Amino acid sequence: MKVLLTYKNLPGKGLLERLERQFDVCVYEQDGYMPREELLKSLGDVDGLISMLSERVDAKLLDHAPKLKVVSNYAVGYNNIDVAAATDRGIMVTNTPGVVTDATADLAWAILMGIARDVCRVDRFVRTGEWKEWRPEMFVAADITGTTLGIIGLGRIGQAMAKRAAGFDMPVLYTDVFRADPELERRLGAQFLPLDDLLRKADFVTIHVPLNADTHHLIDAHALSLMKPSAYLVNTARGAIVDEPALVEALRNEKIAGAALDVYELEPKLADGLAELDNVILIPHLGANSRRTRDRMASMTADNMIAALTGEQPPNLVNPEVMAHRRVRDTF
Ligand code: GLV
Ligand code: GLV
Repeated sequence: MKVLLTYKNLPGKGLLERLERQFDVCVYEQDGYMPREELLKSLGDVDGLISMLSERVDAKLLDHAPKLKVVSNYAVGYNNIDVAAATDRGIMVTNTPGVVTDATADLAWAILMGIARDVCRVDRFVRTGEWKEWRPEMFVAADITGTTLGIIGLGRIGQAMAKRAAGFDMPVLYTDVFRADPELERRLGAQFLPLDDLLRKADFVTIHVPLNADTHHLIDAHALSLMKPSAYLVNTARGAIVDEPALVEALRNEKIAGAALDVYELEPKLADGLAELDNVILIPHLGANSRRTRDRMASMTADNMIAALTGEQPPNLVNPEVMAHRRVRDTF
């Protein structure tokens, strides 16, 4: 069986070694990602593809891969993959849930605190020698402890945010497509609200939903207009959940106090005007980027690949309905 890895510097221990023990692993040896044209040409005899969140795995790509059985995504989010197209072709899609939860919530919390206390801006102030003397009115910042956290999406990462909020005596509001069970709400001290009400009440709004057709531009000009002028938006999920030009507009006109972003719609491209604003913190998509998390992601990516190519159901199968497809196909 042949496995293709399109990026040689994938961090995390042991992935390559484990795969090479069982499969013929082909690694793109140049610096950076395998260019798409080359990738399309290389897929003819590939059984398993390891994909990065920045790679588009669409119907066209899958049509170049007649033997492909599994796409093992090195990410929890899989909006880069056309899952329906994969399912139609009997191809399994896997991801890395769970292991990214704490690292992502840690970063979301770091930039939430960072934007509230102006950490990046005051760092620049000190570094550039502008600090001449201590003054009590310098950079008076927002409060964090005791304010209200609004969580959009109470999945694993949203729940991890609620846990952290407890340490800061912050009441938690959340919204989601389904209401969580009362026991979980009680444990997290989280109160369910429709999105609009959450936006009106929260001091910090943090996004933890996957990107899909329903969440695309969920935070648009209207949503931003409901937020308090003193409120902050934190996004460590996916860029396209927020309408970026509308966000730039809201920040520029101080309709909201600030934003802390780890993700962007067209990474690494920033929306026009975003980088010129002072009331933002901009991070280059590093939510899951801690050493332990990278190791666990690598190991999960390998586990999923190995299970899929040795006839077992992978532990983190995104499209379980594919198993029925596969059985039908296998009987031909
Ligand atoms: C990171 O963005 C991930 O989806 O794992
Ligand atoms: C601040 O540094 C204080 O001592 O209050």
